[in-house]
Amino acid sequence: MTAKRMFIKEAWNITKDVRVIELESGLNFRPGQFIMMWLPGVGEKPFSLAWNNLLVIKKVGRFTSEVFKLEEGDPVWIRGPYGSGFFIRGETAMMVAGGVGIPPIYALLRMNAGRLKRVVLVYGARSEGDVVLLDAPSYADELRIATDDGSLGRKGVVTDLMDDVKEFDQVYACGPEGMIRAVLKKTGYRNVQVSMERYMRCGIGVCGSCALGKYLVCRDGPVFRGEDLRGLI
Ligand SMILES: Cc1cc2nc3c(=O)[nH]c(=O)nc-3n(C[C@H](O)[C@H](O)[C@H](O)COP(=O)(O)OP(=O)(O)OC[C@H]3O[C@@H](n4cnc5c(N)ncnc54)[C@H](O)[C@@H]3O)c2cc1C
Ligand code: FES
Repeated sequence: MTAKRMFIKEAWNITKDVRVIELESGLNFRPGQFIMMWLPGVGEKPFSLAWNNLLVIKKVGRFTSEVFKLEEGDPVWIRGPYGSGFFIRGETAMMVAGGVGIPPIYALLRMNAGRLKRVVLVYGARSEGDVVLLDAPSYADELRIATDDGSLGRKGVVTDLMDDVKEFDQVYACGPEGMIRAVLKKTGYRNVQVSMERYMRCGIGVCGSCALGKYLVCRDGPVFRGEDLRGLI
């Protein structure tokens, strides 16, 4: 699939190292799916869709530093959406996001607003200045926050808050791998779907760089059922 040229409608920073990119037109997508963004002369990298035209990108290296220079009217080249998305199971949900793991959880919340009986959003960040919730809380029935330094919400890690949420049919999670591992352990790998990250090059199941055991994260994921990851992470 060739990349499609799209223009940036608006771009703004929400923390010192996280930038939101709003594209001028939307893509058909499922929450959890990702796109490959190509910048000529820089490279091509995967990002989850926070909405059909919305990306939330953390500056960590060369490519994402270039994203920080993008402004309104600049072109970017997009392939996708690719991969599997989340599937809603049951009527009550605990959605867990860590740091910049918010995009697919934000999309899931927003797309299912008013459709589920109860949604609890559990969010964790390093400190108050790293919180990238957008308007996610407005789509949830309840919000619980933890920060590593206690500057907002409870002091501790996001998975500490999971014990306080009693009734839910399914957990949906995205965040750093350590957090995902803790979520899977807490749920016993049952009734949980998680979005996984691996280093990606092709995004379409050809190059093998995103292997996770018998799976290719770009093709078989990035969203997996907990049961499918037993023994793998
Ligand atoms: C399916 C998927 C969805 C993603 N969605 C988002 C998103 O919505 N927002 C966002 O900010 N980032 C997202 N990422 C991560 C994003 O692709 C990387 O941060 C980006 O590629 C880094 O590029 P870089 O050149 O700036 O940094 P690099 O120089 O390539 O990397 C900087 C650091 O990040 C690590 N890293 C880079 N890519 C990955 C990866 N795929 N998995 C684990 N560690 C990695 C490197 O090991 C290195 O330590 C997603 C990744 C995947 C696989
Ligand atoms: S990124 Fe090439 S196989 Fe997944």
